[in-house]
Amino acid sequence: MAAPRILVVDDTDELSRVAADVVAAVIEATPAAAIAVATGRTPIGLYAELAARRRSNLIDVPGIAVYQLDEYLGLEPFDRRSLFGWMQQSFLEPLGIEDERVNRLPVDGDLDDGCAAFDRELEAGGGLDLAILGLGPNGHLGFNEPPSGPDTPTRVVDLSPVTIEANARYWGDAADVPRTAVTMGMAQLLSARSIVLLASGEEKRSILHRALEGSIGPEVPASYLRETPGELTVIVDRAARSQG
Ligand code: F6R
Repeated sequence: MAAPRILVVDDTDELSRVAADVVAAVIEATPAAAIAVATGRTPIGLYAELAARRRSNLIDVPGIAVYQLDEYLGLEPFDRRSLFGWMQQSFLEPLGIEDERVNRLPVDGDLDDGCAAFDRELEAGGGLDLAILGLGPNGHLGFNEPPSGPDTPTRVVDLSPVTIEANARYWGDAADVPRTAVTMGMAQLLSARSIVLLASGEEKRSILHRALEGSIGPEVPASYLRETPGELTVIVDRAARSQG
């Protein structure tokens, strides 16, 4: 386990550019990289930056495989709140990633079997080369809500009140946020060969501090990133990192 690389940037524009450099370097080194991709607000600028670089022929990503990080349960196909739909619009389509290179989480049928099959397939493919993660207000990664230990697999979860409140900003109201979800497990994320954690804004300052300097444990799932055997790059803006 190497010490995390913590890059403090001025603002979200710089965060997006610096993160795009890190992601582009992974893809250049591993053109068939298996990547987990967060939705949420923080990585939006990164995905736009990657798309702009693709349009300028600075990067190309035809060989990558994408593994879905999380999804709400109980939605009809094409529901506006689908996180897969969000990933499609912000990442898959702008980067021209073909459907057959995308591994979706199960949302119907026997979910326990579906989650186990997802993990088996990911493992058979050699695991993740890169996980692009945001930081939940309660320290969640994906929807690995506290308490989540480092060995938890891909599974169905109940969303915590804190996450429901935070996700209400995406959809208008807490009543619009589904109560259950499926998330890639901590075990799958923590074994990624490279992890990029993004955090922006003052509202993330305290949880970021707990994740990076607090005690490591299931109450702050992101704290386990400090034990990942892979390479961890934390890219944060001054508002999230300032100690003042
Ligand atoms: C979403 C996800 C979540 C978010 C986290 C931060 O797919 O995995 O863990 O990354 O809740 O969300 P934002 O970036 O909106 O603050």
